Amino acid sequence: MSIISWDDFDDEDTQVAAKPAPAAPKTTAAPMAAVAPAQTPAAPVADAVPTVRLTAPASASGSAAERAAHAVANLDVAAGLEDLEMGAQRIQVDDKRMINCRADLNQLVPFKYEWAWQKYLDGCANHWMPQEINMTADIALWKSEGGLTADERTIVMRSLGFFSTADSLVANNLVLALYRHITNPECRQYLLRQAFEEAIHTHAYQYCIQSLGMDEGEVFNMYREIPSVAKKATWALKYTQSLSDPTFKTGTPEDDQRLLRNLIAFYCVLEGIFFYCGFTQILSMGRRNKMGGVAEQFQYILRDESMHLNFGIDMINQIKIENPHLWTAEFQQEVTQMILEGTTLEIEYARDTMPRGVLGMNAAMMEEYLQFIANRRLTQLGLPEQFAGVQNPFSWMSEMMDLRKEKNFFETRVTDYQVGGALSW
Ligand SMILES: [Fe+2]
Ligand SMILES: [Fe+2]
Repeated sequence: MSIISWDDFDDEDTQVAAKPAPAAPKTTAAPMAAVAPAQTPAAPVADAVPTVRLTAPASASGSAAERAAHAVANLDVAAGLEDLEMGAQRIQVDDKRMINCRADLNQLVPFKYEWAWQKYLDGCANHWMPQEINMTADIALWKSEGGLTADERTIVMRSLGFFSTADSLVANNLVLALYRHITNPECRQYLLRQAFEEAIHTHAYQYCIQSLGMDEGEVFNMYREIPSVAKKATWALKYTQSLSDPTFKTGTPEDDQRLLRNLIAFYCVLEGIFFYCGFTQILSMGRRNKMGGVAEQFQYILRDESMHLNFGIDMINQIKIENPHLWTAEFQQEVTQMILEGTTLEIEYARDTMPRGVLGMNAAMMEEYLQFIANRRLTQLGLPEQFAGVQNPFSWMSEMMDLRKEKNFFETRVTDYQVGGALSW
């Protein structure tokens, strides 16, 4: 695969097939031992720094330097490392598991999930920053009388309103709920990259909102105040709350299914369905030479998001392969319902943001597109499609995700660059 190319649709790039395999042993992860930080002496004068003796004094009393020396000398390495997963042994690749792994999580290699490491490398190669995109024409158009229709302005406002907080919800879910339960270092490496990308996305929306001089309070509070936006945020938030309890641990079938629910809610529904109406609307605007800077920001974000989605699908399917007992008929039914709920909410959002036809699209076309997307998500998870005979009315969206073909849509700059470190010499 080339670093910035998607074959012809956002989600062709998953590598873990939706198929069952033998169960893996399950145990509960234990936290790594904490080492008490040494204290620093308070602001000594340069030529009056006391000599620190790195020998163990008899007790932990005395000056700060003596207490630090005592703590270091008494650091029990053997006992501390026992608290690591499976002690501090060298790990074998077969010790690695997506969840409930007891192998040391600080040893990145040997890799077991090459797809996770490759996505980390691809994400780094696609690095971009919002300030690189010229917003001058957007500002002039946004501020001009009659530059955009009222319906077009609604789309820009609602999109920035939804996405500006949605990416925070995703980032918080990654960091506060998900990260500690994914017990594989190469996947964690990607999760850290994804978390940074979500920060860049929130930055990009803030940059658009500020550039256009929008009412920040209005935009950032839409996820609370506009019903079609608030319902999507509320739907997702309950899955974060389910995992962010500090006492929550995986290790039982019920708790492992809670983790799977979180992954499906965020990767397949929030990033995999809830983003698609807004992305399509803004990119359609860019294709019509309106708000090209905002559209270019969204195009970069869409490129990142399609990688997040593919990574999430691979994680979910790998967990299913290693833990087939979790994928019961009842659970499959529940997952199907989650996808259908997400589709319904996104269709409501489409109707709210497009009361009339606009930009060559309307709510009915968007409804069919979202049903087409829902079928894709179900197929990727190994579940039957729920919408018979639906087609993709926006086939140009597939091309949008392949940035190499997009140089001419927005006459700004070539978007298929890679950062220097990724170039081959
Ligand atoms: Fe994002
Ligand atoms: Fe994302």
